[in-house]
Amino acid sequence: MTVLFFGSDHAGFPLKQAVTPIAADAGFEVRDLGTHSTESTDYPDYAHAVATAVARGEGLGVLICGTGIGMSMTANRHAGVRAALCGDVFSARMARHHNDANVLCLGARVLGVGLAEAIFRAFFEEAFDGGRHQRRVDKIELSGC
Ligand code: RB5
Repeated sequence: MTVLFFGSDHAGFPLKQAVTPIAADAGFEVRDLGTHSTESTDYPDYAHAVATAVARGEGLGVLICGTGIGMSMTANRHAGVRAALCGDVFSARMARHHNDANVLCLGARVLGVGLAEAIFRAFFEEAFDGGRHQRRVDKIELSGC
């Protein structure tokens, strides 16, 4: 069973609560790394926790803050993490097909719950195409820069 690590700040907490049952229904083992309330907190704490687990190869991730921007910025500082901030279903599909994204970032203050759920389902039902896209994904990682 694939482990799916969830993280949110206070702004993302309500949407995380809406999305985690869908993840469990879809067959993922859900591990919620916080936050666990709407009390104000700092998004990098949760982005680093989820990204660390994903970088170790322990599973995939979902990060939710107000816009998804801070979460994606933070998660993408981790080698091997490819976090995609998605606001539409097409981008979610392509993030998997072409970019082999391993973390989905959502903006809880941007998306309605219905669209967020559709984006979530699209992202996790797709697979990486490989081929020429593997070469490009390999070039994402900084080496000697
Ligand atoms: C919190 O107010 C907000 O800044 C945070 O959730 C996120 O949108 C940052 O990128």
